[in-house]
Amino acid sequence: MNAKLKRPFVFLNMAMTLDGKTSTVERRPTDWTSKSDKRRMVALRATADAVMVGARTAETDRTSLSIPDERLQRARVRRGQPPHPLRVIVSGSGSFRENIRAFERRVSPVLIFTSRRAPRAKLDRLARLPDVHIYIIGKRAVDVPLMLDILARDWKVKRLLCEGGASLNWSLFAARAVNEAFVTLCPRIFGGASAPTLADGAGFPRDAILNAKLLRCERKGDELFLRYRILTPA
Ligand SMILES: NC(=O)c1ccc[n+]([C@@H]2O[C@H](COP(=O)([O-])OP(=O)(O)OC[C@H]3O[C@@H](n4cnc5c(N)ncnc54)[C@H](OP(=O)(O)O)[C@@H]3O)[C@@H](O)[C@H]2O)c1
Repeated sequence: MNAKLKRPFVFLNMAMTLDGKTSTVERRPTDWTSKSDKRRMVALRATADAVMVGARTAETDRTSLSIPDERLQRARVRRGQPPHPLRVIVSGSGSFRENIRAFERRVSPVLIFTSRRAPRAKLDRLARLPDVHIYIIGKRAVDVPLMLDILARDWKVKRLLCEGGASLNWSLFAARAVNEAFVTLCPRIFGGASAPTLADGAGFPRDAILNAKLLRCERKGDELFLRYRILTPA
């Protein structure tokens, strides 16, 4: 990455099946993780200055990307943070539906990072929504290092949590931008060659793969909560 660009500490949180899938072939939200996993997801979110998702996750998972637990909101305020993190949506085509849940709950600014492919009329409509901020950076895809720089510099984001999905995760891995990955390994098998994994995209050639170091492994029932540091290749 360009040394002049700033970037926040970037961490991912994903639930994954035993066969490495993060959704079924239908790519529809289904409730397949434990209450502990969901509590952890919100607790991790509460440590972030901004929470980011890809366009498909923003649409399908109906996530508000906010902090539902008032105790966690109060703890953030005591730490000098706003009650809810900034919410970030990445969409190169600007093709996501306009009735996504992040727009319904007006708890914190929503930042949309998009490219010059996105239809101007739609971006103008979105820009009129309260506290929605649009950045057009990139010809066809969003320039990830530039996006991270804007988040760090203009929005003072120190900790950025990415909650998927596989395509956005890949963009971050490909930019060597991920510091840590939190993965809940769940006792399920989804199968399906086209079902998403932790990171899809073009994939690394053998001489460019990323390695990781296990920082923590905790068992709760039949799930494993794993925390990895992603190692930067020499
Ligand atoms: N198990 C879990 O923890 C978990 C977490 C999250 C999501 N999921 C599941 O994952 C599935 C969605 O994953 P997904 O891989 O299909 O989609 P995704 O990563 O949520 O969103 C993909 C979209 O993000 C945009 N995008 C990503 N990187 C970009 C870049 N560098 N520049 C511009 N745009 C970029 C593109 O939007 P445009 O097409 O608009 O250009 C792309 O099509 C859903 O089934 C969801 O339920 C599971």
